[in-house]
Amino acid sequence: MLYPLPALLKETAVCSSHKIKKFTSAEDVADIRMLVKKALDYKAAPLKDITRGQHRKIGLLFFNPSLRTRISTQVAARNLGMETIVFNADKEGWQLEFGEGAVMNGRTSEHIKDAAPVLGNYFDILCIRTFPSLTNREEDYSEHYLNAFIRYCGRPVISLESATLHPLQSLADLMTITEHTPDAAKPKIVLTWAPHVKPLPQCVANSFAQWINAWDGKGEFVITHPPQYALEETFTKGAVITHNQEDALKDADFVYIKNWSAYHDYGKIYEQKTSWMLSPEKLKHTNGASIMHCLPVRRNIELGDDLLDSSCSLVTQQAANRVWAAQAVISELL
Ligand code: CP
Repeated sequence: MLYPLPALLKETAVCSSHKIKKFTSAEDVADIRMLVKKALDYKAAPLKDITRGQHRKIGLLFFNPSLRTRISTQVAARNLGMETIVFNADKEGWQLEFGEGAVMNGRTSEHIKDAAPVLGNYFDILCIRTFPSLTNREEDYSEHYLNAFIRYCGRPVISLESATLHPLQSLADLMTITEHTPDAAKPKIVLTWAPHVKPLPQCVANSFAQWINAWDGKGEFVITHPPQYALEETFTKGAVITHNQEDALKDADFVYIKNWSAYHDYGKIYEQKTSWMLSPEKLKHTNGASIMHCLPVRRNIELGDDLLDSSCSLVTQQAANRVWAAQAVISELL
């Protein structure tokens, strides 16, 4: 006798009248280990569920640029037999209004309350990439834009990166770590801040911290950054946090490199702090660590050619794993 498999995504209340499944955060996942396994199973057999999404449509809405997320999600949907439509909402759509009770006599042409239900009628699953303002922390951290789509579209929503989190990236990152970790081993994982030339969101770092903290496959988890770059504690609690990068790197198995702007002095960047750039010399104190980055990366600013082009770099594999991460999540929602 066949029993139904347990659902790997939780059902959440969107408003008092209805519940849906969504994928916006580690908190939406019932079993992270099994979701990673599901993604790895798709990597081993990409077309095993080619009919699962037949006659279903998935919409990808982008409010900012993307290479990996945009293409990997399309490939994933195709592997499940779905039709995909991509819409560059920031360039091609009407400017959306999100304000409750707004008198729309300014630049906005269409309210989210009108646009989202229309999109919900066109698609079976809606995927959205938004971006933080980096000027209004309360608004960014309330996920105002993503939550408005979830509330009004009436369909399962997948975050393709939001103001504060990047869950498909984190799922691919956990796949990559799992693939490079011997069975039953518990790796030491370090997230380190790196220099950059412009203010970047905190979302990749927040998300990586949230997923690693929620995952039972890790050993020690250490976050290291200059004192001004502390992340929101909701995501980091459970990790060891230090401002001494050299100490953090000792015996690390994986080093995740990422820049982010300040959370407390919101969106601010300070002097470039080139001494925080990782080097082969610094890696000598690790346990032969592999290095990770979500891409795109500013070469020789955030991370040098010497490491990116070396055998310890997993960045291409991380990006490749985005397909299977997306495929596992879409499959669950189907
Ligand atoms: N890592 C990532 O999300 O890349 P893109 O911005 O190119 O999608």
